[in-house]
This record gives sequence, structure tokens and C-alpha cells, in this order.
Amino acid sequence: MHTPSGHPVAATSVARVVVLASGAGSNLAALLAAHDSPGFGARVVGLVTDKPDAGALDLARGAGIASAVVAPADFADRADWDRGVGEAVAVFRPDLVVLAGFMRILSPAFLDRFPGRVVNTHPALLPAFPGAHGVRDALAHGVKVTGCTVHVVDAGVDTGPILAQVAVPVLPDDDEAALHERIKVAERALLVETVGRIAREGLTVTGGRAVVGAH
Ligand code: GAR
Repeated sequence: MHTPSGHPVAATSVARVVVLASGAGSNLAALLAAHDSPGFGARVVGLVTDKPDAGALDLARGAGIASAVVAPADFADRADWDRGVGEAVAVFRPDLVVLAGFMRILSPAFLDRFPGRVVNTHPALLPAFPGAHGVRDALAHGVKVTGCTVHVVDAGVDTGPILAQVAVPVLPDDDEAALHERIKVAERALLVETVGRIAREGLTVTGGRAVVGAH
């Protein structure tokens, strides 16, 4: 692992991964399915969610992974909540923070706590269709190909340096749910592959570009 300036931040043999998720958690499930594989190089050590009823919580419990619920309703304001998320994540001493269906924006103050170490998976080919409705927006635009993107998180909404992408065709009869399900199949594989590569080969962010495997 490397900081934005390229200096190693962790020399652990297995990278500690904290997942942030708001929903069903199929991406978390894919990481949990991969992290016992010999040589994967990363292990999910904690889940943080903003939703007390997130399906991801059940998955974490089932896998014996510690979790924390940091719900906005329990905080005075957005800044307080954001600090709470940072505290909850920091408890797990992460080498890498993975936003896997985490449907809230985190502040620059949060990102500064984990510099160059927060990645997000998004269900569209960024920079097209950022935001909370990437699948719906792509369908509404009538694109014939969309996909998924894993990128390093910066202060913008889905604007950070791109690490990996996979294209997924839009089929004539697709509705949002059908297209999203097809994207998620590709997305899970891409996320697992990218997290493993980051853990094994390092991540360098310089000049707005992110490279896995540059040492
Ligand atoms: C994923 O498709 C992820 O890319 C998307 O939510 C889904 C979560 O699925 N995230 C966003 O749209 C963020 N803008 P999951 O809960 O089954 O992992």
C-alpha cells in the first residue's frame, strides 16, 4: 500500500479491509467469499453501515465480522455523523476502506484520515452517470453499453481516479433492476480482483491518476 505521494503505508502481509455499505451487501459477500483464499492478500475486518436494517449487517454477522451502525439520526448534524463514521472505521485500523454500495457522501475530513486508501465501486462507466442513480440515468440516456467502475474516492461525487472498469451491454428489454443485476455480476468480480491486486501489489495515487501495482 502507498500514500498519495508513493510512500508505503503498510507492510502487513494481509491488508485489513473495512467495508462501508448501505444495502443488501452482495459486494461485501463477494469479498467475504474471496478473503479466505490463499494468497488473496486482503481480509475484511469490519463493516460500517449507516442503515440499521442493511442486509450487509446480516452477512457480516454470519461471517463473524465485527460491524458498526453509524446512523445519521443518532448525530446532531452531518459533520458529527461524518466524524462518527471516521471513528468507527478507524477502530478497525484499515489498510483499505471499500465503499460497496455506501449511499452517502463522506467529507474531505473523513478522506484525510485515510489518505489514498478509500475506494468506491460504482454501477456505471465513470465519468458518465455519477451519483445515486447511475443505472437509471444510463438507461434514460439510451446508452447501449454501460458497466461498472472501481475508483479512488476524492472530494467530488464519483470523480476520483479510476482504477478499473468493465463494460456491460444494455439489452433492449432491460429495466433498471435487470440491468443493475447484470452490472452487479461484473461489479463483484471487478471489486474482488481490484481489492486483491491493491492488497498484493500496492496502490499509488499521483497527479489525479491511480495505479495498482506501481512500486
Ligand atoms: C452496487 O451496484 C454499487 O455499485 C451501488 O450500489 C450497489 C450495492 O449493491 N452503489 C452506488 O450506486 C453508489 N453510487 P450491494 O449492496 O448488493 O453490494
